Amino acid sequence: MEVVILADDAAVSRLAAATVSQLVCSRPDAVLGLATGSTPRGMYAEMVRLHREGRLDLSQTTTFNLDEYVGLSPSDPTSYHAYMREALFDHVPVRRWHVPDGLAADIPAACAAYEREIVAAGGIDCQVLGLGHDGHIGFNEPTSSLGSRTRIKTLAPETVEANRRFFEGREVPRHVITMGIGTILESRHCLVLALGEAKASAVAAMVEGPITAMCPASALQMHARVTVVLDEAAASRLSMRDYYRSVYQSKPEWQRVEVDAL
Ligand code: F6R
Repeated sequence: MEVVILADDAAVSRLAAATVSQLVCSRPDAVLGLATGSTPRGMYAEMVRLHREGRLDLSQTTTFNLDEYVGLSPSDPTSYHAYMREALFDHVPVRRWHVPDGLAADIPAACAAYEREIVAAGGIDCQVLGLGHDGHIGFNEPTSSLGSRTRIKTLAPETVEANRRFFEGREVPRHVITMGIGTILESRHCLVLALGEAKASAVAAMVEGPITAMCPASALQMHARVTVVLDEAAASRLSMRDYYRSVYQSKPEWQRVEVDAL
């Protein structure tokens, strides 16, 4: 795993947006995997800014989101459909975007179809991931199979609590459709973002802990190309953070993503 430690949310968001933009510049028809939640908000804002400045064009790009709440319609303001429209798609047109259907009558069939659509699009070139406090990626909670595919999952009580802030007194859904860990691991590049002290333990478990279903993100240690972009607080429990800093500082020019070079 490449671990990049930056000063703050703004720097993390700029590097994440630049990474995605550099991919799309070199391959306009790239397939992106996208996440929701609070962490990638700054990245989407940065992508919108790049688009307005004429430096990012997603018109040939296809996207697949990781997850959606079961029972929420796309027009529900707390759905991930609504989140994605508001954060990105209303501002930056994409060729085609996909979010799992939370209202699917036949959920297993819809999940299998989602997997087929990813394959038909050529697979995901870059999957953006946030990280749960309990080490989840997508909504693959601890003890999820490390080979799992897109399916229905029941959220852990801690995740329901963490999501409550988005629901303003309404009942928080317990069930989600999420890409599986096996699905995520098939992406050609995984870009994991984490911000804040509350994520520091999960970050340390993901990067430096054992590979275990108790920390689903630790499965990313098996992936050949993972970039973890952290602010200082999220990196604070990594025992090898000085090493990660020196690796990043001495990266050859040709491997660098320059935030202002687009
Ligand atoms: C969202 C998702 C989740 C979140 C994670 C962190 O699409 O897949 O894994 O990335 O729960 O959420 P935030 O960023 O709100 O801390």
